[in-house]
Amino acid sequence: MLNGPNLNLLGQREPTLYGRETLVAIETRLVAQAKAGGHELVCAQSNAEHVLLERIHAAPRDQVRCIIINAGAWTHTSIALRDALLGVAIPFVEVHLSNIHAREEFRHRSLLADRAVGVICGFGPLGYEFALRAAMAEADRASP
Ligand code: DQA
Repeated sequence: MLNGPNLNLLGQREPTLYGRETLVAIETRLVAQAKAGGHELVCAQSNAEHVLLERIHAAPRDQVRCIIINAGAWTHTSIALRDALLGVAIPFVEVHLSNIHAREEFRHRSLLADRAVGVICGFGPLGYEFALRAAMAEADRASP
């Protein structure tokens, strides 16, 4: 599960939009849920685009079967992130805490969405749990 810029601030950042739960708390819960579902979830967050790109590049070597990604603001701007995800050809689930379609117009467009398995947005931290369910189903489908 990859989280992009500013998501390390979850819990304190605009809580009316993003909730009060920290990213560490979300990650800890999801790792346990993945384990209970018979999968391993590895989490990374970065404010440096190249760090996420390199994690994506390493994903085939790491035998990643599905990527959950909240690319934050890079969702709307980063062709590089799109190219990396398409380059490794690993299915990915896009997630956003807020409903990006109910916000500023510049957030309505995602450079990832048309190639995602699916997009989950507007459910706050719960969205990551939905994304995990979807990612586990995708991973099982790809290699049961
Ligand atoms: C976000 C939505 C983005 O537009 C924003 O830049 C973020 C968080 C979300 O989870 O709702 O950083 O990805």
